[in-house]
Amino acid sequence: MTAKIAGIGAYVPERIVTNDDLAKIVETSDEWIYSRTGIRERHISTGEGTKELATEAARRALLASGVRPEDLDLIILGTSSPDHNFPSDACGVQAALGAVNAVAFDISAACAGFIFAMNIVQGFFMAGVYKTALIIGAETLSKVTDWGDRSTCVLFGDGAGAAVLKSSEDGGILDMVMGADGTKGSALSCTSRTLGNFLLGTAPQTGFMAMDGQEVFRFAVRKIPESVELLLKKTGISRQEIKYYVLHQANERIIEAAAKRLGEPMKKFPTSIARYGNTSSASIPLLLNEMQGRGMLEKGDTLILSGFGAGMTWGAVLLEW
Ligand code: ACO
Repeated sequence: MTAKIAGIGAYVPERIVTNDDLAKIVETSDEWIYSRTGIRERHISTGEGTKELATEAARRALLASGVRPEDLDLIILGTSSPDHNFPSDACGVQAALGAVNAVAFDISAACAGFIFAMNIVQGFFMAGVYKTALIIGAETLSKVTDWGDRSTCVLFGDGAGAAVLKSSEDGGILDMVMGADGTKGSALSCTSRTLGNFLLGTAPQTGFMAMDGQEVFRFAVRKIPESVELLLKKTGISRQEIKYYVLHQANERIIEAAAKRLGEPMKKFPTSIARYGNTSSASIPLLLNEMQGRGMLEKGDTLILSGFGAGMTWGAVLLEW
């Protein structure tokens, strides 16, 4: 049995913040941001948390799939900006949806979170443990962004994307890869809450996101083609058979560099980063949702999805739509 996408949905906060808006709070410009990242604007929450964004995206995915909340066996939410340390936002989504029969948990794999969630579901389906799952990538990175740091605050946006997966005898996920390298953890990090201990007499501190942009760039440009090549080799599927490569939307320059290394034309790499910025775990389902809305996806299409992020983590899926 394999995991097949039965429905997809997405949701972003209403408020749009343009590059020109950011140029009013830090020393930057639309020209600098767009030429280095491909980003024009992003959606930023004015109060909705990760759980609310996730719930709305999930509702839309359920509607698209025709699956009722009570039919779900499993809910996995990939996020690196949860509203709580506990309870998990996945449990909050479960309650909001009334998915009374689903086990629910969050996973932390940063921008690879949606792919990791998909691969975990595939494992459960292959083992015959569950049959119907909801996976979500949702972020409100705006709350862990240092809005005085121009090197990071221009990059990210808030949003959520979700997919309902059903166990199927054919099609769906054909193969997957996942990896992690904890030795590169400092390249992209965000301390949540640290210290605050009566023995040390310290007050709790909250951290913001910090990034070594060039290290992340080099890592991504190496790992995306590596994962794609590995999937093609494992499945015996040729590049010509891949209709689209749906990559995590971190930076348009990363996508261009990966396309070049793979020797594939940019038209096979759809993007949405210009309008959403980097929405971390949400970027792949957000893009898939847009592609479907535009009629770009047809039953039987072969796609590769690829995510990479803090950890460092990476993962890719080869699937039949
Ligand atoms: N506006 C204007 N100037 C800026 C800005 C900004 N927003 N940000 C940095 N600068 C300046 C720096 O201060 C520096 O100035 P200096 O030379 O006077 O010191 C100069 O621009 C160059 O800075 P770099 O950090 O070296 O810029 P770089 O060319 O590497 O571009 C970028 C930065 C776009 C982040 C690039 O490193 C990159 O794309 N990295 C990939 C990382 C990425 O996309 N991360 C997203 C999250 S990670 C993920 O999703 C997995």
